[in-house]
Amino acid sequence: MSTPTRENWGSKFGFIMAAAGSAVGLGNIWKYPYVVGQNGGAAFIFIYIFCIILVGLPLVLAEIAIGRTTQKNPIGAFKELTKSNNWSFIGGMGILAGFVILSFYCIVAGWSIGYFIESINGTVISYTQASEAGAHFNELISNPFWVIGYQLIFILVTMFIVVKGIKDGIEKGCKFLMPALFVILLILVVRGLTMEGSSAGVEFLLKPDFSKVTGNTILMALGQAFFSMSLGMGALLTYGSYMNKKDNIPSASISIIVLDVLVAILAGVAIFTAVFATGQNPGEGPSLIFQTLPLVFNKMTGGYIFSVVFFFLLIIAAITSSVSLLEVIVSYFVDEKKWTRKKAVLIFGSLSFLIGIPSALSFNVLSDFKIFGLTFFDLADYFASNILLPLGGLLIAIFVIYKWGIKNAITSLKEGSENLFDSYPFLLKLWEILLKYIAPVLIIFVFLNKIGVI
Ligand code: TRP
Repeated sequence: MSTPTRENWGSKFGFIMAAAGSAVGLGNIWKYPYVVGQNGGAAFIFIYIFCIILVGLPLVLAEIAIGRTTQKNPIGAFKELTKSNNWSFIGGMGILAGFVILSFYCIVAGWSIGYFIESINGTVISYTQASEAGAHFNELISNPFWVIGYQLIFILVTMFIVVKGIKDGIEKGCKFLMPALFVILLILVVRGLTMEGSSAGVEFLLKPDFSKVTGNTILMALGQAFFSMSLGMGALLTYGSYMNKKDNIPSASISIIVLDVLVAILAGVAIFTAVFATGQNPGEGPSLIFQTLPLVFNKMTGGYIFSVVFFFLLIIAAITSSVSLLEVIVSYFVDEKKWTRKKAVLIFGSLSFLIGIPSALSFNVLSDFKIFGLTFFDLADYFASNILLPLGGLLIAIFVIYKWGIKNAITSLKEGSENLFDSYPFLLKLWEILLKYIAPVLIIFVFLNKIGVI
């Protein structure tokens, strides 16, 4: 039951912008280009979009519907729907995933703050060669104080916003900063496309080479789909829990997904046209945008201003995502354990900072320390994005079909969107089929394939 004091979004637009704010983040602008680059370009993108439509969309609807129906945090929601504790481990897993993601997310977000400063003092636009821009990036991240300092600043900002709560903190910021990000990205795309030699980048993004696709490529694409849509750990569930029963879940979900994919695709075009035009290596890894974009800014009229605004908006995109990660954890302790918001934010914000430190050191002091061949940073990302999130998604699908019941789920989804489903009833059947067969089978297939069973 919803408590009388539980906040709601101020408007449907506010909800969409906040949820899109959660989805659109470093995952689209920083991570997507570099995993595309490492996994061969167009073929990867194709599989990624396939995963979004067949696995992502049905699960986004399911997560939001569960949240709105129960008006609860991820653990409380499963408890409420089953009147037992048997399924709440899905929410628990989600909270763990959110915690792990937040711990490494703040590091890259910190780099963005660092680069914002570098762009203000003119360093960012001063490079004409890829090798110089790359060397500068490496120099910065090899300094643990630089990395951890900005990581700390970023988590403090995130904590500050989450303390303020959802309508004044999260919603207000997202509503006008998200559109601004979009405009800047469009300008970068145009600049990228007009650079000499950019067509090789366009080809890289459009011409698939499926011979390079392995089980790992598919797992990466699936993981990226979950990560970029904030899916599989209860973030959308939590945001849905602040949603009004009169709102239309499918239309909000489609808007969120389209925005998310669009920003990733645009970021991809902006980065790869530049990568190829300046002769860089597309498989460069997490440093990719920090080495590539300075050269684009260098070659642009008004590059200084654009670099400053871009890194500012990148920070904003990261904040609107990191608040959703922290909000999930906080909402659990506030709802279920009756903690104050302040206490939950203080404790879990600080903990995630501390847990992130080994990942921050992965780029300098601990760069040679590897587990399963991965640094702390890569391991945290791999474990959360490629294992916990898809597993969470699989369990949510199983839960909806076998425990909550598709009938109940449909009743809940339909509230606020009766017109759509009365006109197109087959959409509900399609949702059921995707949740019951396609999404689980695909996720299980990818897991089994990855561990070498099939
Ligand atoms: N989707 C965000 C991005 O692309 C990251 C993120 C925010 C996230 N909340 C999440 C990822 C919840 C997984 C789960 O940057």
